Amino acid sequence: MDTIKSSKIANPGLAGAGQMRIAWAESRMPVLMAMRAEHEKAKSLKGMRVAGCLHVTKETAVLVRTLVAAGAEISWSGCNPLSTQDDVAAALAADGLSIYAWHGQSRDDFYWCIDKTLEFAPTLTLDDGADLIFRVHSSRTELAPAILGGTEETTTGVHRLRAMGDAGKLLYPIIAVNDAATKSDFDNVHGTGQSSIDGILRATSILLAGKTFVVAGYGHCGRGVAVRARGMGSRVVVCEVDPIGALRAAMDGFSVMPMGEAAAIGDVFITATGVKDIIRKEHFQRMKDGAVVCNTGHYDCEIRIPDLAALATKVSEIRANNEEYLMADGRRIYLLAKGRLVNLAAAEGHPSEVMDMSFANQFLSLVRLAREGTTMQKKVYTISAEQDRQIASLKLATMGMRIDELSPDQLRYRTDFTSGT
Ligand code: ADE
Repeated sequence: MDTIKSSKIANPGLAGAGQMRIAWAESRMPVLMAMRAEHEKAKSLKGMRVAGCLHVTKETAVLVRTLVAAGAEISWSGCNPLSTQDDVAAALAADGLSIYAWHGQSRDDFYWCIDKTLEFAPTLTLDDGADLIFRVHSSRTELAPAILGGTEETTTGVHRLRAMGDAGKLLYPIIAVNDAATKSDFDNVHGTGQSSIDGILRATSILLAGKTFVVAGYGHCGRGVAVRARGMGSRVVVCEVDPIGALRAAMDGFSVMPMGEAAAIGDVFITATGVKDIIRKEHFQRMKDGAVVCNTGHYDCEIRIPDLAALATKVSEIRANNEEYLMADGRRIYLLAKGRLVNLAAAEGHPSEVMDMSFANQFLSLVRLAREGTTMQKKVYTISAEQDRQIASLKLATMGMRIDELSPDQLRYRTDFTSGT
C-alpha cells in the first residue's frame, strides 16, 4: 500500500505559533528528549508505521517528533473532539506529517480522522481511550495481522481492553502505559489535578477559596483534583461508589457523601469516574443557583447533559467553554466545556513536565512492540518494573535530585527470613 502523506487541520497559518509552543514543551520534557537523542542514532523504529489517536497538544507533538526521529512514519488524529490545539496541529503538518485533527469536531469528523490514519496500514497503534483500537477491531480487522502491537494511555481505555483481552477478543498485544507507576502516580494525580483546576479557572475565573467543591470519583484523577481544590481553599466533598476509595478520601480528610446529598450543597462539581450518568436529573434539580458543573473523565457521558437541557428554558454561551443553563425556576447552572475533559478543552491539558514521563513510557513501549511484538501474546501487558525505575531515575536526575542506595548488607537483610527480633 502506498504511504499517504496528507493532513487535514484547521489553519496552516498557525504553524509558527505552534512551533513556539512545541519548543516550550521540549524545554520541559528532558526525559523524552534524552530518548530522542539516543534513538535518533539507533533508529529503533525504522520501518514502523505508527497510527496515533491521542490529544494533539504541544506535549504530544514532542512525542510525535521523537517517534519520527527514531525512524517511524506517523499518521495521527486527536482522541477528543475538543482537545486539539490547532496551532500545534498546523506545526506538525508543516513538518510534512500526516495529521488529521482540529478543534471542535463532530462525531462523524472524529471517526473520519481515525479512518484516515488507518489508510497507511499501521504496524503499531497508539491510543488514548482505545477508539483507534476499537476501529481496527470492528471495521478494519484486515489490518490487524500486520499490526505488531498497540499502547493505551488512559484508565478508561485499559479497563475496556482488559475486558477484550479476557474475552479472547484482542487481535494484537497491547501495553497498558496507563498502569506504569511513572504514569498513573504522576500524570493522573498531579497532571489531572493541576490542569482541571486550570480549566475551571480559565472558563469561569471564580474564586475557589470558601467554595464547596464536589469531586465524583476518588481514583488517581479524583484524588489529584480533590487535593488541589483543597489547596485553593475549597471545602472538598468526595462522592465514591467503592468503599475503599471512600475510606481513603475520608482519611485524607475529605467529607464523603452520596451525590444526592452533595448536589444540594456544592458550588463546583467535577466528575472523574470513567462511568456514565454520575450527575443526572435528580442532582440538577437540587443544585444551588450558580452551580458550576464539569468533567475530567475521558468521555462526555459522566454528566447527563440531555437531562440538564430538558430542565432548561434557555442555554447561552456566556464565555468561552462556559454555558449557562437557565432553569424554569430561575436557577442558573453552568456547564463547562460541554461536559468534555475540562482540562484539555478549556486549558492545555497536563503540564509538559508530567507528560514527559507518560510519553517516555509510550515511546519505550512502542520500541518494545517493534522488537518483540511478533512473539508477544494477544493480551494486555503491563510495563516492567525495570522500565518504571529507569524513567523515574532519569526524571529525578533531570530534576537535579539524588537518592540513597542500599548497601549489599542492607539488601541481604531485606530478604533474610532467618533474622528476627
Ligand atoms: N492528556 C492529558 N494532558 C495531555 C497533554 N498535555 N497532552 C496529551 N495528552 C494529554
